[in-house]
Amino acid sequence: MTGTSMERYLLGIDIGTSACKVIAVDSRGQVAAKAVGDYPVMSLRPGWAEQDPEYWWRAADKAVTEVLARLPDRRAVQGIGLSGQMHGLIALDKHDHVLRPAILWCDQRAAPHCDEITAKAGGLQGLLELVQNRMLPGFTAGKLLWMREHEPELFARLRRMLNPKDYLRLRLTGEHVTDVSDASGTGLFDVRNRAWSRPLMRLLDLPESILPEVVESSDRTGVLLPDLAARWGLPPATPVFGGGGDSVIQTTSMGVIDSGPLGVTLGTAGIVAGGMRSCPVPTGQLQISCGNAPGRWHVMGVTLTAGGAFEWLKQALASVSPATGALSFERMISMAREAPAGSGGLLFLPYLLGERCPHVAADGRAAWIGLTSMHGGPHLVRSVMEGVLLNIRTIAALCVSSGLACDEIRASGGAMSEPFWSQLLADVLQREVTTVTGAAEGGAYGAVLAAGVGRGWWTTLDEAVATLEVTSRTAPDRALDPLYASRFSTFRGLYDALQPVMAQIAAEAAPTNKNVPLQPTSPIEAT
Ligand code: XUL
Repeated sequence: MTGTSMERYLLGIDIGTSACKVIAVDSRGQVAAKAVGDYPVMSLRPGWAEQDPEYWWRAADKAVTEVLARLPDRRAVQGIGLSGQMHGLIALDKHDHVLRPAILWCDQRAAPHCDEITAKAGGLQGLLELVQNRMLPGFTAGKLLWMREHEPELFARLRRMLNPKDYLRLRLTGEHVTDVSDASGTGLFDVRNRAWSRPLMRLLDLPESILPEVVESSDRTGVLLPDLAARWGLPPATPVFGGGGDSVIQTTSMGVIDSGPLGVTLGTAGIVAGGMRSCPVPTGQLQISCGNAPGRWHVMGVTLTAGGAFEWLKQALASVSPATGALSFERMISMAREAPAGSGGLLFLPYLLGERCPHVAADGRAAWIGLTSMHGGPHLVRSVMEGVLLNIRTIAALCVSSGLACDEIRASGGAMSEPFWSQLLADVLQREVTTVTGAAEGGAYGAVLAAGVGRGWWTTLDEAVATLEVTSRTAPDRALDPLYASRFSTFRGLYDALQPVMAQIAAEAAPTNKNVPLQPTSPIEAT
């Protein structure tokens, strides 16, 4: 896009799991200012994760105030885009007051209600026809049923449900609106037809009146409330745009909105995702959402452990020898470099938290297999990294079988700051790995791109993502192709072979932990 004599800005706000991030982006796509406000996750019981929406509001207010203070001219802000953690249930009464703390995406309490929903839909196949997704416990629908069963007095007062970023929108504009990508993660949305699933609402005996209006990600959804615009010093009638669920709109910030590159985000968890021009035939293994551009769909597999496995090993090694303290990230990486590619035959299955994809396995467990007395610390470290990436390759293969291309890997996430992770990603998947500007800012940047289309900075989202510049390219070592192909083939058979043992181990565990993946009790790191 062309520059103007007076600079102009868009704000992107992301309501993450552990923090709210706000960025201001100028007309050249440069981040002019950013700020973060954090908040805790409450976990009253194993498997529960809740947050007070008031904290999101306060963190957003603080971070927006800080960002605006750093801009040369806050009156040049032309609009606001939103991103947020998906699947959360914010239950509102008739005065728009929250009825209870939000139940978050990582909360597992609704697992039995998901079984009930699937049965009411006529089994998995029936459900896939209605909403194109398996009912994951993190999704909003099961939480509504949990609330109806366990908190009937509160449920009787429920008038509206919202997703996290849409609660912020309510505070900004007074409107009850969500966008198609976030609606997709409720489990109540007909993703193929980009509309609420009336048949499923009827089957579950839920009133349609609780559902917010749904728009595309670049649609204008209202304007800042006058008091707020005045307090922040922003132009009156500053528009707020649709935005998106974080996993989807973060993929947009990587420029992945169409089939071609596959996006891989290596944070605590790992996300493999791509864009399509039609809604694929659902199998229930991958999550399907509407994309952030009209007529686009987003296909994704989320593994619960990626960088988290590396971090776990770092902590575990520190506790073996507390006197020497935790190994530094750099020391871990140099250990991994010491081990040969393929870790001398050692394989690691990374299901430390159970798994969501490539296997739906709350009872999944991690394992090292192939250990011999020849293996040492460096093999352990490298095999954990390779195991995470072989798992990512398994999800990438599922994506390809759903019709996505994997011409290159667009990577983002904390791990990408370490060149060895990028090289290993390229080697294990045997694809070039690229990073682009914008991706480092995640969902907040994707929200700016979508808002920019709404504000007329770009005509389409394709035009917007074309402004992203490649910041690094890592070519795979082709000589390692046969080795990783054979590691991959062995790795793929491991889950099925070990599943009965994992189930037995889980059954033997304490009853309170049965079927409940481990949950951190205080601030969960956002993916
Ligand atoms: C996506 C998912 C997470 C949350 C939190 O399905 O569960 O990525 O959106 O970031």
